[in-house]
Amino acid sequence: MTTPDLHVFVDGPAVARAFADHLVKMLNEKKTGPFFWALSGGSTPKLLFKLLAEEYRNKVDWERIHFFWGDERCVPHDDPESNYGEVMRLLFDHVPVVHSQVHAVNTSLDPEAAAAAYGDLMTQLMPTTPEGWPILDLNMLGMGGDGHTASIFPSNMEELLTDPRVCAVAVHPDSGQKRVTMTGPVLNASDEVVFLITGNSKTQRVAQIINEEHGATKFPVAHIKPTSGKLRWFLDEAAASEVGY
Ligand code: 6PG
Repeated sequence: MTTPDLHVFVDGPAVARAFADHLVKMLNEKKTGPFFWALSGGSTPKLLFKLLAEEYRNKVDWERIHFFWGDERCVPHDDPESNYGEVMRLLFDHVPVVHSQVHAVNTSLDPEAAAAAYGDLMTQLMPTTPEGWPILDLNMLGMGGDGHTASIFPSNMEELLTDPRVCAVAVHPDSGQKRVTMTGPVLNASDEVVFLITGNSKTQRVAQIINEEHGATKFPVAHIKPTSGKLRWFLDEAAASEVGY
């Protein structure tokens, strides 16, 4: 695995603040034009969304950002499980985003149709690689305890890491919940991938992957290394406590 750029902070709030400042820096560096940002679900990003809403209203060029999701649960947007609904409540209701640039997965479609439509939308809106993969400026990802990211799980990673489609349907191995997920080639086409990982429940998995321990390649996160983009891990001390360097 290419050595990622590790950023370790004292705790979750510090990780959120560091990422928020990193977002501002990336927007400044890109100077003009649209900024394509994929969000992740789960609990870790909640601190970030709340912080952005409370303290970054006037620090971020909200009108430049196009929002996407690395994965979305196939539920209505007002369902508590909805990643889109979560961000709407915590962030979009509080800052001046351009709502036509908030690109939610159309979960009113059946999952396969929703995945195909989302992949087409991404390809229409974003610059693409020579192979046709849409290029996100920033792909913010989390990691589950099983080493999954987006909705690429150990149980389905063989297909999803090399899937020829931009988005595909994944099934959560425990709940059976259907999700739309960006596939491995899309994640690795990003200009920058940033993993936000906090808490001692992730310590062992983070160490296995970063230290390239035996068996690390069975975890999907170990395969997310942008082809030509940057790879950063934003960790708190708890998650990073057994990283070997
Ligand atoms: C989702 C996420 C998922 C998440 C990880 C980590 O829809 O659940 O996209 O990939 O990032 O499960 O979740 P936590 O931050 O809650 O540990």
